[in-house]
Amino acid sequence: MSTGSLPRLEDLPLQRGTRVLLRADFNVPLSDGGRIEDDLRIRAALPTIEWLLDREAAVICCSHLGRPKGAPDPKYSMSPVAQRLADMMAIEVPLAPEVVGEQASAMAARMAPQSVMMLENLRFEPGETKGDEELGAALAALADCYVNDAFGAAHRAHSSVVGPPRHIPSAAGRLLAAEIEALGGLLEDPARPFIALLGGSKVSDKIGVIDALLDRCDLLLVGGAMASTFLAAQGHAVGDSLVELDQVEQCRTRLDSGKVSVPTDAVIAKEIAADALTAVVTAADVPDGWKILDVGPSTATEYSAEVARAGTVFWNGPMGVFEVEPFAGGTRAVAEAVAACDGYTVVGGGDSAAALAKFGLADRVSHLSTGGGASLEFLEQGDLPGLRALREGKR
Ligand code: 3PG
Repeated sequence: MSTGSLPRLEDLPLQRGTRVLLRADFNVPLSDGGRIEDDLRIRAALPTIEWLLDREAAVICCSHLGRPKGAPDPKYSMSPVAQRLADMMAIEVPLAPEVVGEQASAMAARMAPQSVMMLENLRFEPGETKGDEELGAALAALADCYVNDAFGAAHRAHSSVVGPPRHIPSAAGRLLAAEIEALGGLLEDPARPFIALLGGSKVSDKIGVIDALLDRCDLLLVGGAMASTFLAAQGHAVGDSLVELDQVEQCRTRLDSGKVSVPTDAVIAKEIAADALTAVVTAADVPDGWKILDVGPSTATEYSAEVARAGTVFWNGPMGVFEVEPFAGGTRAVAEAVAACDGYTVVGGGDSAAALAKFGLADRVSHLSTGGGASLEFLEQGDLPGLRALREGKR
């Protein structure tokens, strides 16, 4: 699908003081002390908020944060996010003490044109993750219009994502539209060769996207823990590496496509520790008691060379345990190759985004997606519940 079919911000019936409920994805990583570790997702929502304020709207922001269990939990309060947004925009961003209810309604009703407020964590309401109709209606009742800019949550058929468009005029925000434009480009007519790089832990989580990519790409380079299952499918000994036995056959058939490359060497250790004893071995020959924790230097060089010649790159998932230095080399090498590639480069959220940030390369790719699961599901299905809700919503 293309962005053309999504209702646009420009189509909303905005006037001075129109209240707009903005569903953002402010699900940012927090430290144990509750400090925001990366505010990419907050910065990414600013163009939409500013666009709405320029048109004298009043913006009611809402998001989930973490996975609280359907009840208020101070650990997951939106308070640090409201504060960070206020600092970024140099305005006040009052936080409602609830998601919906009398206090949230009273605060929303009092909003001045060009002001911003935030609701508490949507997942403090038990109905949110169940897609509860009443909660969707109650959220919509706070505002005159709805904007979905939460690309990272658009694969969740949750109340705040699919509910409000049934009740009030709705549109896709700037970020959501940009994400669909960038990822849609991979599905439609990617410049060749199209090289996909997939890492991360589980084949079972990614088999759908592996198939979607194999339909479209010229070469799929596999790394990360999931490479072990592919190596096992080739009949190799992978020592104590994690192998998903029920996925071995699936991997074998994907290898038969002739488009999948797996590591030829690996960095191994007995434990994940900065001072662990490590060795580089051929990936076919990992001794018992040892685990593959990164792709080896030959694989990193080979993968980087493939990326260098690409017309299009999609990268999701680290090549190894990049957070721990002895196992960061493979991810660093491919991150540098993606950053140096002259083609169109798209990196799909989560850990790969964190890796790019760690290596100071986040602004060196064509598109850094704010969605992990959402970007994979969009590539797999070509659509998402949040996009459908906007297309089918009230005008
Ligand atoms: C994400 O971080 O991928 C999104 O915010 C969705 O979060 P969830 O996986 O908890 O639904």
